[in-house]
Amino acid sequence: MRKRIVVGNWKMNMNNSAAHSLFQSLNNAEIVSSTKIIIAPPSVYLSGFSSNKSKNIYLAAQNCSDNENGAYTGEISASMLYSIGVGYSLVGHSERRQYQNESDLLLKQKINVLIENKVIPIFCCGENLDKRESGDFYKVIQSQLENSLFHLSNSEIKEVVIAYEPVWAIGTGVTASPGQAQEIHAFIRSLLVERYSLETAEEISILYGGSCNASNAKELFMNKDVDGGLIGGAALDVDSFSAIIKSF
Ligand code: PGA
Repeated sequence: MRKRIVVGNWKMNMNNSAAHSLFQSLNNAEIVSSTKIIIAPPSVYLSGFSSNKSKNIYLAAQNCSDNENGAYTGEISASMLYSIGVGYSLVGHSERRQYQNESDLLLKQKINVLIENKVIPIFCCGENLDKRESGDFYKVIQSQLENSLFHLSNSEIKEVVIAYEPVWAIGTGVTASPGQAQEIHAFIRSLLVERYSLETAEEISILYGGSCNASNAKELFMNKDVDGGLIGGAALDVDSFSAIIKSF
C-alpha cells in the first residue's frame, strides 16, 4: 500500500514568532491519521523545529544545494539537512524553476546529492498555462521526469516522492479538477511502469499541488492515483491544514 502524504509548503512566509506558534499548534493538534505529515518551513526554522517536534511530524527543506559542500555562499547542503534531522527536501518547485531559473540538469544534480545524503526528494513537476491550453502538457511533464529523475536506479526511485503541480493552479485559487489531476497522476504512473516496473510504480506516492484546500481535498484525494497533497496557502492555518490531512 502506498504512503499517503500531506506536505505543508510554507514558502517565504511568517516571522519567527508566527512560525513557531503555527508549528506549536500543529504539534499540539496531535492529528491522528495514518497520513504522513511533512512541514516545509523556511530553512532558518528547520533546526529549531527539528528539536521540538512531535513524532508524527516530519520536516522538509524547500530547497538545497546541488553541491556536496564548499565555497557556495548562501547555500545549504543535503548533508546539513540530514545532520539536523530533516528527512525530505522539495526539488524543482515551479517558483524556483521560474525565479531562480532552475534547469532540469540542475535539478538532477540536486536529486543525486539528496539521495547520496539520505534525504528524500519531493520532486515537483507540472505545466504552465500555455502548455495546458496548447495541449502539450503531457510532453512537458514527461520531459521534466525524464531529464531530472529517470536516471535513478529502481531502488533509488522508490525513495522519491513526486508532486504534480500545474503552475496555473498554484496560488491562483484555480484547482485542477479531480479528473484532470487523476489523468496526469495516472500518466506519471504509466511512465514509471514503462521506465521501471509495475511493482515500482505502485510504490511511489504522487501528490497533487495547486490551490488544494479543506473544501476540495477530499474529491482530489479520492482518486486512485492521488496519494496526497502539496499544500501552500492552506498550510498556513492549523485548522485548514488539519482538515486537509483528515480528508482521506
Ligand atoms: P498553493 O501552493 O496551495 O498555495 O496553490 C501549492 C504549492 O506551491 O506547493
